[in-house]
Amino acid sequence: MKRKVELVVKSVHVIALETIEMTLVNEYVAKTAIPGQFLHLSVEGHTLRRPISIANTDHKNKEITILFKIVGDGTKQLAAYRPGMSIDALGPSGNGFSYDSKSNSILLVGGGIGIPPLYNLGKTLCTNGIHVTAILGFQSKEHVFYEANFRKLGKTYVVTNDGTYGHQGFVTSVMDQIEEFDTYYSCGPIPMLKAVTKQLHQYNGYISLEERMGCGVGACFACVIPADNNGGYKKICQDGPVFAADEVIL
Ligand code: FES
Repeated sequence: MKRKVELVVKSVHVIALETIEMTLVNEYVAKTAIPGQFLHLSVEGHTLRRPISIANTDHKNKEITILFKIVGDGTKQLAAYRPGMSIDALGPSGNGFSYDSKSNSILLVGGGIGIPPLYNLGKTLCTNGIHVTAILGFQSKEHVFYEANFRKLGKTYVVTNDGTYGHQGFVTSVMDQIEEFDTYYSCGPIPMLKAVTKQLHQYNGYISLEERMGCGVGACFACVIPADNNGGYKKICQDGPVFAADEVIL
């Protein structure tokens, strides 16, 4: 049973093209959410809740940061919320990332709006003394966000598809420059995850498929993903959004 919570908007900023960073206050979520989990937000006038991943938590100030892209009426309306307003939500939801505290070095590979949950994970890993390297992929310069945040965690490569900022190409284009690591974590569009899991097949890895969610509560089947070649499947919203890289077929 997901817990119903009330989040109070503290701040709303546009941090890149059509990309919003929203800070919310709720003590329970700030204290209990783990990296990779999401909040299931109710936007006034819209029946379906929006699943949005958590980019950061601040226990001391009871704050949670979410990042989302304006892609339709719901997210447009959400972006118009102002400080002091309340948002009804369910969560924190989903299984989140697990990690081995004995790891020495971790690679984070994020694409677009799949990057936020990896920031939350990277912060946690750093706090636990684990070395972090990040590859962040965007369409172009105006979409780039959180580069400085990731640079504080460790060596960070920024890649843009059109080459307007950082390295030109895809996240896989810079992988030959990465030093040894134990495990990778990746989140982003499915074509990117396919390329990443293929290129890093000899490594232990985890992927978050949060971008693929629809209703977020197991009702719409928009998030179903094959888990084997015999018709077996997983629901991202209920079984994930985080999976071991070899647990699902992309
Ligand atoms: Fe609707 Fe999973 S998102 S069933």
